[in-house]
Amino acid sequence: MMSKDITYLGKVINVNSGNVEVEIAKEIPSAAPIIEGRLYRIGQIGTFVKFPIGSLTLYGLVSSVSNTPSNIEVLPNEPNYGSRFLQVQLIGEKLGNEKFEKGVGTFPTINDQVHLVTEEDLKLIYGGKSEGFIEIGKHSSSDNLSVYVDTHNLILRHSAVLGSTGSGKSNTVAYIIKRVLNDYKGSRLVLIDTHGEYSSAFKGAAQVFRINDKKSPLNIPFWTMTFDELSFFLVGRKEGQEKPEDKQLRAKIIELKRLNASKLKSGKVDLDYITADSPIPFDIKKLWFDFDRELNATYNHASDHTKANEMLLDKGDASQLKPAKFEPHSPNNTAPYKSKKQTMYPYIGKIYSRLKDSRYGFMFNPTDYYDSSSPNDIDHLLRSWVENENRLTILDLKGIPFELIDISVGLISRFLYDSMYWGRFEEYTGRNRPLLMVYEEAHSYLPRTERSAHVYGYARKAVEKIFKEGRKFGIGAMVITQRPSEISETILAQVGTFVALRLTNSGDKGTVQSSAPNNMNSLIELLPSLRIGEAIVVGEAINIPSRVRVKLVEPRPSSNDPEVVKSWKKEFKPSKENYKQVVTAIREQKPINKK
Ligand SMILES: Nc1ncnc2c1ncn2[C@@H]1O[C@H](COP(=O)(O)OP(=O)(O)OP(=O)(O)O)[C@@H](O)[C@H]1O
Ligand SMILES: [Mg+2]
Repeated sequence: MMSKDITYLGKVINVNSGNVEVEIAKEIPSAAPIIEGRLYRIGQIGTFVKFPIGSLTLYGLVSSVSNTPSNIEVLPNEPNYGSRFLQVQLIGEKLGNEKFEKGVGTFPTINDQVHLVTEEDLKLIYGGKSEGFIEIGKHSSSDNLSVYVDTHNLILRHSAVLGSTGSGKSNTVAYIIKRVLNDYKGSRLVLIDTHGEYSSAFKGAAQVFRINDKKSPLNIPFWTMTFDELSFFLVGRKEGQEKPEDKQLRAKIIELKRLNASKLKSGKVDLDYITADSPIPFDIKKLWFDFDRELNATYNHASDHTKANEMLLDKGDASQLKPAKFEPHSPNNTAPYKSKKQTMYPYIGKIYSRLKDSRYGFMFNPTDYYDSSSPNDIDHLLRSWVENENRLTILDLKGIPFELIDISVGLISRFLYDSMYWGRFEEYTGRNRPLLMVYEEAHSYLPRTERSAHVYGYARKAVEKIFKEGRKFGIGAMVITQRPSEISETILAQVGTFVALRLTNSGDKGTVQSSAPNNMNSLIELLPSLRIGEAIVVGEAINIPSRVRVKLVEPRPSSNDPEVVKSWKKEFKPSKENYKQVVTAIREQKPINKK
């Protein structure tokens, strides 16, 4: 019996768990039917078909097309059927007028009818614009069919935007952020922008912090580091190592932190709780100064090394990193006698050179949070990041020395995670006001293995924690990368939603294939052939795996390619003035001021 229905395709000939084989009828009403003015192509990989079974409709995705059925041997002289057999993966079902649900409870049986899925059907599946959804783009097959993603799952179940370089990742991210900011007045996002490309897309709509910026400098105070982090950074100490100088360093840090415990602007901290890891400000210049003094002091008495017997020449100035000066000790056993405290000898020069290096200023120079002249504690920093009017904060890491990206992202992420964790029940944060962290160029600091000389896993540890536990405290994350195969596996395993743009490297494609939800292989196979700005969206935030076109946002992230031909066609005149400002910019690590 043949249906006269224009959407009729054929019938089921084989069912194998979630896979269904369909034979297209020899006399379908049309090979390329036009329904409500739209042309449909039958048997395209990645398109949908449906199986009406009474009031239940099953939906499936065409995963392969063949001219022979899978389980029958075709004799050489048999007529060619054309592309008449479709392999279909079942993806969901819909009962009557109820909502589309992922997964199937019922399977079709042999000879059940198979129909084309029309735009009207898809509209029912994607649903209209409603409070819980944001538009991510248009369906690839139709300019007027919006595709919506579930906001809750997109944010708190985490997501990844993947694609080869130039495939449109940054544009997609900017688009999603714009939708979120537009649709949710209480939303808030922190974007880790390694190349400083996003502020141009959010002019006036984002709070941007940059290294060395006069108006809104990016500061990451060194004292938010744990003892392991700080001692590794200052003197290269390895975790677990506990030499006498390490013990002394630890004791000194605790001592200095305790000094400030009662002066903290956001409230005093009980001394009993202070460890070398507590994020409490302390005077690191004084730490260096005191160690240096103890090491270099000389005395006019052989054994009584008290202050009264010091042979001081100049008392120095800790805040200027000017050491105290003493009479040089005598080489013989006569006055001036050398200090007996030499434990810190291996560390003192290293600490000094760190404090002197201006590239680390964003860690060491932030106004002293405990100093009486400064009104602020780190709550001020936190508010400026996650409680500003723009709701989008861009932390522009462009000026950060390459070797500090890892620790910087690590500190930012841990600090924000901690604030969400400890504040989880406060009405203005935590579970009551979730936060989305967005990580650009994630492969460079969230690697699978610590291969690079400058990546020690600080960022990875902190971001993995967000991916594993963040959901419960209202912190979600989105990673963006061109090299999914180089990203931490723990992170990939926790990604709920993949937005995969064109991806040509087969290793990377393989990674997406193995991380994405089961039986999406046929869609993932399409990755190398996608157009710019076109993405496969699969996972928890989307009802039905979809091929989507993302609109080009205006204004754009500043990642446009230069126009080679246009600029090489132009003739350039050499000038003695050229490159002077460029060199200054390299020296200051600061963009050239345009007049
Ligand atoms: N949806 C789109 N429609 C049309 N053109 C687009 C779209 N998305 C991006 N493009 C074009 O492609 C260029 C590169 O896009 P984009 O910077 O978003 O890519 P990317 O994947 O982030 O690249 P990279 O890996 O270098 O960061 C853009 O400058 C824009 O010209
Ligand atoms: Mg980009």
